[in-house]
Amino acid sequence: MTIKTLSVYTFRNLSDAHLSLSPGFNLIEGQNGAGKSSLLEAVYFLSHGRSFRTLHLDPLVQFGQDKLILQAEIDSFEGQSLSLGIMKTLKGEGQIKIAGEICHSAAELAALLPVQLLNSDSFELLNGGPLFKRQWMDWGMFHVEHSYGSLWKQYQRVLKQRNSAIKTGASASIRCWDESLAAMGEHIARQRAEYMADIIPICSSILARFCDFKISFHYDRGWDASFSLAQALESGLSRDQYLGYTRSGPHRADLRLNLSECPVNNVLSRGQQKWLIYSLKLAQGIFLASKTQKRCVYLLDDLPAEWDDYRQKVLIELLKEMSPQVLITGIGLSHLQEALGDSPVKMFHVEQGRVQEQDTNLEMPLSEDSSLSNSLI
Ligand SMILES: Nc1ncnc2c1ncn2[C@@H]1O[C@H](COP(=O)(O)OP(=O)(O)O)[C@@H](O)[C@H]1O
Ligand SMILES: [Mg+2]
Repeated sequence: MTIKTLSVYTFRNLSDAHLSLSPGFNLIEGQNGAGKSSLLEAVYFLSHGRSFRTLHLDPLVQFGQDKLILQAEIDSFEGQSLSLGIMKTLKGEGQIKIAGEICHSAAELAALLPVQLLNSDSFELLNGGPLFKRQWMDWGMFHVEHSYGSLWKQYQRVLKQRNSAIKTGASASIRCWDESLAAMGEHIARQRAEYMADIIPICSSILARFCDFKISFHYDRGWDASFSLAQALESGLSRDQYLGYTRSGPHRADLRLNLSECPVNNVLSRGQQKWLIYSLKLAQGIFLASKTQKRCVYLLDDLPAEWDDYRQKVLIELLKEMSPQVLITGIGLSHLQEALGDSPVKMFHVEQGRVQEQDTNLEMPLSEDSSLSNSLI
């Protein structure tokens, strides 16, 4: 899917921005503090119903305003044109609209608009503990396996019940959750294992385009591999009671990435870590497209940072081969135009929250922002 138009109203320093985007590359440049990351944040918010920079709404609503509004016209993977909109007020009211209809779950937006973000926080994927690896796996599972989102939610609900029984109850009241927890947990772990088997070779072949070191991937499903989850829950009962929570299950899964037996975050430089992180995330886009015809939108914030020229060219080549829609921000990006060749490219200049499309040949502004149709207000 591609975003055809994006309208951003009173979001951060973007008062009223309207972009008509290229289905290929969109280069968004401007000085520090201009509003580049805020534009990507707006796209992310439309897809996830939340920001990647804060869990709170107040910092997102423009100072002095009482609500934010985001709208987009997308080409869905079924070839239809769809409008998406989200409005949130500081009072806590909100509305999501898909094709003019009110929708009650942000997950529906996420399913329609898969977005992959790569920014300086992406290092958490290698340095931030198993939670970030699980989030990475779950992004893929959610978009590839139809039933995964609801299965995972149900599993979380039963896990919560078992954990409260551990805190308050006798062994029998804990055990009564084990059967359903084990059945769902095994299912999730099996689906994740299949996903890992598919995605790891893709990731390795992308990484080989950047460098010649080989990473070993080890998927840990979250409990001792020689037992079923039912057995692990039973044999770990007294330990769980001592700890106060359920220690075995897919909620404890991990993906270990090693170079010569050492965790990659201990041996790779930041630049090298970046190649690996990009390989992990690009692999997900490639796999998604091959399995479902869905294409994700890539948001690359501050691309030139920490990339040498050679690897930047490799990355652009990879993206050209994948041909997803890409939004790239940076202080200066005109040097990328040559590498992009005849790929569809649009350039935007952001200054103090105002966005202007540039002519890619002349690097001149094309027209003033057109205003937002406030159909969500
Ligand atoms: N709620 C808000 N209202 C108005 N301006 C804001 C708000 N939140 C952040 N800003 C300002 O928005 C500007 C854009 O930030 P950002 O998008 O991160 O810039 P860039 O990525 O271009 O360096 C910054 O100057 C920041 O201080
Ligand atoms: Mg920024």
